[in-house]
Amino acid sequence: MTLEYHRATNVVAGGTDEDEVRTVETLPVPFKDYPAGAERFPLEASVAGPLLEAGAGIVRSREAPSTGRTIYFRGYSSAGALYPVEAYVASAEGVFSFDALGHALVRHGGDVRGPLAQAAATPVREAFVILTGIHARTGWKYMERGYRHIWWDAGTMLANLLALASADDLTPRLHTAFVDRELNELLGVDGRHEYALALLGLGSQVEAPPNDPSNSLLLSENGPGYPLAEGAHAASALHDADAVRAWRVDQPGSEPKLSRDVLLRAIRRRGSVRDFSPEPIPRDEVAEVLAWSEAPIPADVPPVVRQWVTVNAVEGLEPGIYDAHLKLVRPVPEAELRRGSGFAAMEQDHPRLAAFDVWQMADLDAVGARLGDRGYRWAQLEAGIRAGRLQIGAFMRGWGAAASTFYDDEVSKLLGTEESPLLMVAIGNRG
Ligand SMILES: Cc1cc2nc3c(=O)[nH]c(=O)nc-3n(C[C@H](O)[C@H](O)[C@H](O)COP(=O)(O)O)c2cc1C
Repeated sequence: MTLEYHRATNVVAGGTDEDEVRTVETLPVPFKDYPAGAERFPLEASVAGPLLEAGAGIVRSREAPSTGRTIYFRGYSSAGALYPVEAYVASAEGVFSFDALGHALVRHGGDVRGPLAQAAATPVREAFVILTGIHARTGWKYMERGYRHIWWDAGTMLANLLALASADDLTPRLHTAFVDRELNELLGVDGRHEYALALLGLGSQVEAPPNDPSNSLLLSENGPGYPLAEGAHAASALHDADAVRAWRVDQPGSEPKLSRDVLLRAIRRRGSVRDFSPEPIPRDEVAEVLAWSEAPIPADVPPVVRQWVTVNAVEGLEPGIYDAHLKLVRPVPEAELRRGSGFAAMEQDHPRLAAFDVWQMADLDAVGARLGDRGYRWAQLEAGIRAGRLQIGAFMRGWGAAASTFYDDEVSKLLGTEESPLLMVAIGNRG
């Protein structure tokens, strides 16, 4: 079912991923509309509040000339700046929405960590962050393919949250297996227009608190239906705690620990860079950025993404196709490679101009055989996390980076693989 969704939303050479008849009048607002009387808490009410502000908060804004509206850019990249991912916090003080615009936590109801942990068949932690996706926000531009974007954007956000939580000694653990219906109900979302994507456990384990699942503030979403995406999402749901336990494979290891200050500076400075200088960049630093991107993710599911690198201008490396450890797969003349990368990335310039491009790929048939339909969600999410780490890693070194969409089959042809592209990131010195 998820593979059918995937194939149906592939874009062929010369095609587009955009709804070309959309109008700005119907552009969705990328924030929840909180009632005036909503109960607001300072971000510091939970360890998750400052974490979300640092990793998923607003970093800059500007007026969009075409609409006159203000675009609020966030610490993570989001296709089309449509921000379809919302974050909720569950802690001892209750369950909250992260209000990025108001820099506050908006309380929905009581402490639901007990039932929430049960839904993911995991012990209760000091706090949980739960991410949800709202298809209509990204569907406005990307229609059915927007379902992929939800996972990618959640991934770029999670790359920040995992890294910052590790820097703060919060031992983050990502749960992708949970009983969908239970988690959605605890958040008061309908599971169709808005649905839980992932759960991030933070801080030490605590005794299960008494259940207080009252949910007084309900902020329901609506919008058009996306039958293919809804079918894929329903097919990949888990229906009870036994199914959660049977599916998951807890991964050993923890999130790499980087300097909080260095991370914060990079996240604040990050913004998609699409013009690159032709000067080559140092091979050792490219290897370091790739190593962080490739590092294990502390999750309940094994990695399925393989990253391929097309090297245009890296010191000491001949232009060509490489694996993530910079082992040469096949040399390709630079001009041909640049042309091919730009074309495969939906005929855009930034992948052509970049010093190197990293392509997140997966054998989706093998993912399905090993992890079932749920594995499809993870493949897209993992691609987003690895792409998010690449972007922050690039900014940590003073380079620029931007993600890109693509013509699906053209990427596989460029790399000479049967694997399917999930996402890509272009990286280099700013032009
Ligand atoms: C999954 C994904 C796909 C993207 N695809 C493209 C793309 O094809 N072309 C492009 O110029 N930018 C692309 N971007 C970058 C977004 O447009 C950018 O993140 C957004 O406008 C917000 O701006 P910022 O990254 O500067 O904060 C993509 C970002 C993501 C996360």
